[in-house]
Amino acid sequence: MPARDASLLQQAEAIGERLRGWRRHLHANPELSGQEAQTAQYIAAELRAMGYQPVENVGGAHGVVAEAHGGAGPFVALRADTDALPIHEETGLPFSSRNPGVMHACGHDAHTAMLLGAALLIHNNRAALRRPVRLVFQPHEEKYPGGAPAMIAGGALAGVDQIFGIHITSQLPSGQFAIRSGPMMAAVNELAIDVHGKGGHAAKPEDCVDPVVISAEIILALQTIVSRSISLTEPAVVSVTQVRAGTADNVIPERVELRGTIRTYDERARATILRRVREIAEGLARVHGGNAVVRLGDGYPVLVNDREVTERALGVAQQVGFAPDVLKTMPLQGGGEDFAYYGQKAPAAFGFLGAHDPARGPAYPHHHPKFDIDEAMLARGAALHAAFALQG
Ligand code: NI
Repeated sequence: MPARDASLLQQAEAIGERLRGWRRHLHANPELSGQEAQTAQYIAAELRAMGYQPVENVGGAHGVVAEAHGGAGPFVALRADTDALPIHEETGLPFSSRNPGVMHACGHDAHTAMLLGAALLIHNNRAALRRPVRLVFQPHEEKYPGGAPAMIAGGALAGVDQIFGIHITSQLPSGQFAIRSGPMMAAVNELAIDVHGKGGHAAKPEDCVDPVVISAEIILALQTIVSRSISLTEPAVVSVTQVRAGTADNVIPERVELRGTIRTYDERARATILRRVREIAEGLARVHGGNAVVRLGDGYPVLVNDREVTERALGVAQQVGFAPDVLKTMPLQGGGEDFAYYGQKAPAAFGFLGAHDPARGPAYPHHHPKFDIDEAMLARGAALHAAFALQG
């Protein structure tokens, strides 16, 4: 129904002041992962004022869920994340953070405002609903273990057969929408290896087990995992990023600490890499008479977009006014995102909405103290969310 859909963007633009108001309130009052109490109260109050009956404390934390009922069949779910980062804001914006050392530097304020806007649009068009809609305001995205598992445990996906999420981005021009079918964002694992040897005088290596030499072999051997154990069609990274050891020129240390990160897009490749890291580090340490203690921190799983839901998101984007030339294929992203957990349980699609207006200066990256977005895109995001739900 193109006529109604075209009008959705107009309706979203007509509530532009409210979208900006929500975003600016949230931007000025950011809260860290796990501490989003005021944010959750604010969201719930705004939803109640629209006529919703939001459920608070979903997942035992600061999750908020609201439903719009209409039509029949399974739910369509829309998700926004609500938390901020431990960064001291330097944008100089009049609505800068009033919470020193905490900043919405990833655009989650915009995500929440866009979903509140969608809530209003859906409510205003509820007579046209073909299926019920669940609005999922999720806390704690920025910090592992994430907020999504608790939301899922709290029932956010019960009866849902499609879930859609949007990340706003300063790294694409305003108005572009980029998405990718299949794996899109990396699975992340932290890598920590402590190599223990036997310290002593550097002039008497025969009395020592030198963990520096063992570590050098381990670092090089780790580079063979991607080149020798992983298929050429499978992108993956194993990086050692920190090496700490030693106190003096003439002392062989007791121990070396290696730290790094692993990024993958396939759970089997991930399992292979984790297994090989352990085998290489423990095996090489052993043959040299030392030992390696390997810790592979868990991180978010790979984010996989369902093909059909992704196609639907692209179709909805066109109908809501995104011209075909602004719809892009997102390149693989090395970052992680806890939306991945929803995709493990239900067909899911997660897309990126460009929100950088070059006329307003350089694009600061996400998690930067000067990060900002083009607020004109809030209406686009709200319309996209609402159209995805109304066309369900
Ligand atoms: Ni983010």
